[in-house]
Amino acid sequence: MTIWKPSLQRGKARYLAIVDALADDIASGKVDTGSRLPTQRDLALRLGVSVGTVTRAYAVAEQRGLIRGETGRGTFVGTAPPEELPIGDLGDSVRGSVNLGMTWPLESENPDLAPTLRKLARRPDLAELLRYQPNTGTTRHREAGAEWIARHGFEVPAECVAITAGTQHALTVVLSTLARPGETILTEDLTYPGLRAVADFLGLKLAGVPVDDEGLLPDALDSLCRQRKPAALYCVPSIQNPTATVMPNDRRETIARIAKRHGLRIVEDAIHHRLLDDPPHPIASIAPEFTYFLAGPSKTVAGGLRVAWVAAPRGAIERLAQRTWATTWMVPPLTAEIFAEWIDDGTAEATLERKRSEAAARVALLRSALPDADVTCAPAGYHAWLRLPDAWDSGARFAEAAERRGVAVTPADAFWVGTGRPPAAVRISMSAPRTRATLAEGLERLAATLGDSPGIGRPIV
Ligand SMILES: Cc1ncc(COP(=O)(O)O)c(C=O)c1O
Repeated sequence: MTIWKPSLQRGKARYLAIVDALADDIASGKVDTGSRLPTQRDLALRLGVSVGTVTRAYAVAEQRGLIRGETGRGTFVGTAPPEELPIGDLGDSVRGSVNLGMTWPLESENPDLAPTLRKLARRPDLAELLRYQPNTGTTRHREAGAEWIARHGFEVPAECVAITAGTQHALTVVLSTLARPGETILTEDLTYPGLRAVADFLGLKLAGVPVDDEGLLPDALDSLCRQRKPAALYCVPSIQNPTATVMPNDRRETIARIAKRHGLRIVEDAIHHRLLDDPPHPIASIAPEFTYFLAGPSKTVAGGLRVAWVAAPRGAIERLAQRTWATTWMVPPLTAEIFAEWIDDGTAEATLERKRSEAAARVALLRSALPDADVTCAPAGYHAWLRLPDAWDSGARFAEAAERRGVAVTPADAFWVGTGRPPAAVRISMSAPRTRATLAEGLERLAATLGDSPGIGRPIV
């Protein structure tokens, strides 16, 4: 691409005309992301302007995020991927550490958005995407959702599917229809922290159901149903967050039977389900009449789209539409359309495959870095659950020690909604580092921490 020669509009400053021409050529696809621009001297010669004008144009283009300069290599179209992904809620304390604390979904493997946007830009009906749409999504988008859900092993008609702005939003929408303030939601005693945020927002109580290495314990669920009269059960049967357990089919059937006996609605979060090669049946396929199946593609395709689908029991969609209206009116149709395109053209499936194989390679790294550790992890899971050796009596203490060695992990305390003390364990996320090399470095630091003696914590002066 070093022969790019823009045609400059008259009537504006030369440097701005160069920037605008560049922006137009990127938008029209004439200039591809990642391609190298001419040197400043070459472009100046070709356009008959001074080198200073081109220098200024490139500086403004860089400020606008159109291009980036790479020392010793040249100037390239597009911004550089960040070396590490944002660390979000973990805050300053892990700055400079390897982030194994957050399950960012292997964002280096995300699909390329540019060809899809170019294709959409050529569509004669593009303006439709700027119109208000039904709260639960257009027919096309609900059909795309039904197709995505079917790939989880659960066939459902599009009329029973509603679109939401991600699984987190689905939780807000669904739980607000199932429970009133003050009522109780049951969940695994180590649970996804986003559920706590929703419960807090809706004024719901959470009660933790003890688990074993196959997930929710049936007897404990049965007795909590009798004692607490819960409004619903939220669970993650496939690659649970944080314990990474996969509930086998017979346990799913038992859980469905108990729920049915107590008239308990189940909210099944299948966000990691498709990372499994040969997954068990969704609970929703066993008990569609009282299960809400949340099929978010954030982990397996891309989190920034903010879409997810809910397959709901017949008759429940109207209430979900009402809550979606109350919270966001509708999911932006543009992002839903992008995902529908990716279902149609195979991008969703290809991305899933790429992420699955990258995740499997990262699990292998984990296994070789911590060969003797007590770790639960799915073969292509993004996170692992590390039960600490006896010397460590608290996950929080271990996480602090790991942080001192320059690696962030999340202690059991962050997930705990059970009674008594949380177990001495931490979640290790392998999917946030951009490269395997960074992950390997983090795992090495973690292995070293396991060899440390817990001591008495930070020295205090
Ligand atoms: C179990 C679980 N559910 C839901 C979410 C959030 O999903 P989304 O990005 O679709 O809102 C996460 C994110 O980590 C998660 O782990």
